[in-house]
Parts: sequence; C-alpha cells; structure tokens
Amino acid sequence: MSSDALKLAAAERALQFVEPKMRLGLGTGSTAAKFVELLGARVRAGLEVIAVPTSEATRAQAAALGIPLSTLDETPLLDLTIDGADELDEELRLIKGGGGALLREKIVAAASDRMIVIADTTKRVVTLGAFPLPIEIVRFGATATRNMIEMLAGDVGCQGKITVRQLKDGTPFLTDGGNLIVDCAFGRIDDPEGLDDMLKVVPGVVENGLFLGLADAAILAGPNGIEVLEANYDDMLPDEV
Ligand code: A5P
Repeated sequence: MSSDALKLAAAERALQFVEPKMRLGLGTGSTAAKFVELLGARVRAGLEVIAVPTSEATRAQAAALGIPLSTLDETPLLDLTIDGADELDEELRLIKGGGGALLREKIVAAASDRMIVIADTTKRVVTLGAFPLPIEIVRFGATATRNMIEMLAGDVGCQGKITVRQLKDGTPFLTDGGNLIVDCAFGRIDDPEGLDDMLKVVPGVVENGLFLGLADAAILAGPNGIEVLEANYDDMLPDEV
C-alpha cells in the first residue's frame, strides 16, 4: 500500500468520528489534506458542520471545497480537531510543525474538546526526536533566541544542529504569523516535558512543536490495517490526597 493510500485510509476512519453540527478543527499537512478532501465530499452530500482551519493552506483548500468556515474568535470552542503529526509516541506525545503550522495547530487543538491524530504507522516512535523539532521564533533577535534554545535544551540532554528553516531559494521560511522556524535535530528527546518547560522560558520562542497532553486518540494506518490508540490522561493524574 502506498503512503498516500495509508494516509487516505486514516483520514477515512477519522471521518467516522464526525457528527452533524460539529465544530471542527482542520489540521495542516498531506494527511490532514486527505481528511479535508473527504469532509468536503460529505458536506456536498449534505453534512452540516463548521470548521476552523489551522493554516492559510488548509483554509484555501476547505473554502474551495465548500466547507463552511469560521475562526476561533467567532467559534472559540471546538468539538473535534483532526490533524496529522510528524512523530508520535506511545503516550500520544507528538512532534508537529513539519509544515510550519504548529502555532495555529496547537491553538486549535487546545480549543478542541477532542483531538484525533491521523497518520501512517511510520510516524510512530518509541522516543520522540528523530524528526527535528520545529520551534517557531520571532525574527527579532533570532540568533540570540537560537543560542538560548541551544543552551537550555542542552540542560535537559538535548543536543544537535539547530537551523533556521529556509525555502528552496535560500530565503527564510515564514509562518502564517510571519515568524521563523528553527528545526532542532536533537536525535532523541528523553524528557519532552522538561524540554517543553525550558523552551517556554525563552522570550523569543513563540511556540514549539511538542504537543503534550493534547491528542486524545491516534488513527494509525499501516500495511496490516488500522490501529486506534487512545490516550488515558486520567492515569497520569496524581492520586487524590
Ligand atoms: C504541519 O505543520 C504539521 O504539523 C503536520 O501536521 C505534520 O507535518 C504532518 O504532515 P504530513 O501529514 O504531511 O506528514
């Protein structure tokens, strides 16, 4: 089965979670795009939903398909967000931002009652970090910000090349918010929560691509079929005292 077919299979399964009148968050990337395509067909067949896209690219795709769109200002609470991921581990911790949309993706996921990740099984890892962690930073003071990320990440055992993402013509990639992305090739992130805490301390960091405690389920399509992983965050709460 091709990678495209696996993405489509995961997207098809995710469609089963969509109910009439739902307020949906629409992810970004090639897998999320398959879901948006399928959703468009359902809308044309009469399904009533309203959707908030996580990027200008997804907005354009959804608008072209006739999916009714809203914003988080008009619709600040969403029922369900369907989005892809660059990596996910057994605890449904994610790395996102390969497409550069991590900030809006995280805001939309946090505003959703449920977030379901759709991916092919190659995205599943034991330890996050083989995929370089994208971090969105402001343009002002970018070198100082990069250096501070390097120093603080080192304190939690994360070391590796940190590069400003560029377009093919060598100019910096800019996010929908007009910021830069630095990609951090840490190799492995043994303490995602510790790294996330560190990154939050850096003033020039807008947001990072670690999605911790946000995904409720993952639909993973592989050559042997589909597997649905469910998060169980209740198990992670401290015992009552
Ligand atoms: C976009 O910024 C990302 O978070 C995507 O969700 C992620 O890169 C997955 O993309 P693919 O579905 O294209 O692999």
